Amino acid sequence: MAETIIKLNRISKTYIIGTRKNASKAQKAIQKLHKSYEDECEKEDLKCKKDTEDLLEKAQELFSKEKYEESYKTVTGKTLKSRPKDRGAVVHALDNVTLEIKKGDLVAIMGPSGSGKSTLLNMLGLLDSPTAGLIYLKGMNVTGIKSKKLPEIRSNDLGFVFQSFNLIPSLTALENVMLPLKYAGIKPQKRKEMAKKALESVGLGDRLDHTPNELSGGQGQRVAIARSVVNNPAIIFGDELTGELDTKMTKEVMGLIQNLNSKGQTFIIVTHNPEVAKMCKRTIHMLDGKVDKDHTNGKK
Ligand SMILES: Nc1ncnc2c1ncn2[C@@H]1O[C@H](COP(=O)(O)OP(=O)(O)OP(=O)(O)O)[C@@H](O)[C@H]1O
Ligand SMILES: [Mg+2]
Repeated sequence: MAETIIKLNRISKTYIIGTRKNASKAQKAIQKLHKSYEDECEKEDLKCKKDTEDLLEKAQELFSKEKYEESYKTVTGKTLKSRPKDRGAVVHALDNVTLEIKKGDLVAIMGPSGSGKSTLLNMLGLLDSPTAGLIYLKGMNVTGIKSKKLPEIRSNDLGFVFQSFNLIPSLTALENVMLPLKYAGIKPQKRKEMAKKALESVGLGDRLDHTPNELSGGQGQRVAIARSVVNNPAIIFGDELTGELDTKMTKEVMGLIQNLNSKGQTFIIVTHNPEVAKMCKRTIHMLDGKVDKDHTNGKK
């Protein structure tokens, strides 16, 4: 059984637009309880932890069923008067999502616009914090991790590739790929060697000194992939990373991802493109903030 890299446990992300006082109060109560739960986790007060966990679970379930008054009561013991005139909206961007990502996975996240794909990716990549729920990275609870520690975890374990590459135009391919290594505190000579190797692994060994505007779209995206793999992260995330590429370049980039995956690199990519999803090992379909389907693809 492959090692679990990331585990999401009952993750919710809720946005309250306009006035929904009872929902806001219930959400705040849940967040406060979560905070004390995380503190308990830190103290490893296991008995207390289990009690709070049960309470949280119940409150969250009621919240996602839009029973805000009952949810609030579960946490605080207090009753809220109903407010039928509140006109705001509650967006359950993610609704109680539980998910495990194993080492060596090549996952496509699909689903209609607004179904929560980017929100999910942001949770998995620790780019955003959930309203409720727990995130474990390699078995460690990172939900309430102090923001001081986050950049270190991100630069060691998590790589990102975005739709529009985000390469720095004034730097060469080699310099772009060397950049994350600088932040990781690696010495210049070593940085150069590692970046060169990463660019060679994406087939761009002969383009080291080209700046981004001297590269094709597919090559630019390959540089971005080289930059994300260079410090050997546990997992690489891509949000629509082939979104701006034509069919041929999409195939080229996906071929590269499959190749790196066959050597053990884990990927999670959000895509609207069924052809891209077909080239992945597993597809997670999101619908209304929930995991609708999660299946291993027949092929491969
Ligand atoms: N900052 C925010 N404030 C309020 N609502 C938000 C916010 N961010 C996202 N949402 C809502 O959360 C839901 C999920 O958004 P998300 O960006 O995850 O969708 P998506 O599946 O990535 O969509 P797309 O395919 O269009 O990129 C949407 O209904 C969106 O309107
Ligand atoms: Mg999105």
